[in-house]
Amino acid sequence: MTETPLFLRALAGEDTATAPVWFMRQAGRYLPEYMALKEKHGFWTMMREPELAIEVTLQPIRRLGVDAAILFSDIMTPLPDMGVEVAFKPGPVVAEPLRSRAAIEALRVPEQGEIAPFVGTILKGLRAASPVPVVGFAGAPFTLGCYLVEGAGSKDYGRMRGLMKSDPETAQMLFDKLATLTARYLCMQVEAGAQAVQLFDSWAGLLDAETYRRFAAPANRRILEAVGAMGVPRIMLAVDAAHLWTEIAALPCEAVSVDWRHPLSVARKAFGARAIQGNLDPAELLGAGETIDAAVDRVLHEGLGGAHIFNLGHGIMKETAPDMALRAIRRAQAFDRRNAP
Ligand code: CP3
Repeated sequence: MTETPLFLRALAGEDTATAPVWFMRQAGRYLPEYMALKEKHGFWTMMREPELAIEVTLQPIRRLGVDAAILFSDIMTPLPDMGVEVAFKPGPVVAEPLRSRAAIEALRVPEQGEIAPFVGTILKGLRAASPVPVVGFAGAPFTLGCYLVEGAGSKDYGRMRGLMKSDPETAQMLFDKLATLTARYLCMQVEAGAQAVQLFDSWAGLLDAETYRRFAAPANRRILEAVGAMGVPRIMLAVDAAHLWTEIAALPCEAVSVDWRHPLSVARKAFGARAIQGNLDPAELLGAGETIDAAVDRVLHEGLGGAHIFNLGHGIMKETAPDMALRAIRRAQAFDRRNAP
């Protein structure tokens, strides 16, 4: 019998002897082997061609020896199946942003079998090829709505937040459609082999607690419940969202990803027995070796006292030297949580 992998034990709430390690955006532009493939094929093709997506997912596993493999894809991947045209420059750009009720009414809600079927093929291949557990993911309705309504990345996603204030009924329709899409999309990923899922509500921190409770929390709950029924652990992420921790703690999930602004020891109090994931500042990896070591140790100490998955507070920066990422990962994996000084 094979032993349950470290990453899945931590997700099950076990206070493991060492913390499993992976990094958000661990496949990407800081890796020369990624850039070589991207120059040849382009981002969309890399996400759609199973052979390429599997290769790119496994690149950081080989080079860095991380304890989990996250599907190489994007939160925007299922949106073309709703009838939305998306490009990457390099962030997502929506050809026709949803700026009217009619545009939101026109959004198609595809059946499970119609949503990015290539992602299912990629996950099946990954399960066969990956030496570590495979993580599926999706964007949460609010964060997807930010890109759909705004049309591109923005500092405050004022158009999306404005829609929620000025026309709550239309906003609700958008949340409902995106929740249905995302629940189906993640269930498909689990059927194809994802062993855990992460729901990225990256920009939820822009919302006040009441607005989060009204729109985002019920949509996220629907998605998490649908995936939970399939028996895989669920990780919830929201950046700069400590003011929403009460709401997030009420959601059905096994783990919460925490950014670098708040110590993990404080997060642990908010999330009780759940696993905590995080929270090295990605900027630390731009430093010289010694400052990285100290920062890694600080995070690991803060993470003691319950299940901890060592990760960054948000995605790895493209300026990161792969050797510095490797140094942080090795150090975290060697940290003995039972005999921490
Ligand atoms: O973590 C991984 O290694 C898996 C791959 C992954 C990508 N996007 C690949 C990607 C994941 C998990 C995502 C999720 C995603 N995409 C989120 C949620 C995570 C977060 O950061 O909060 C969001 C908000 C997006 C939207 C998005 N896609 C942005 C903002 C960008 C630009 C990123 C940048 O660094 O400029 C993208 C494009 C994108 N997604 C790239 C990658 C590797 C860069 C594309 C390129 O190589 O040109």
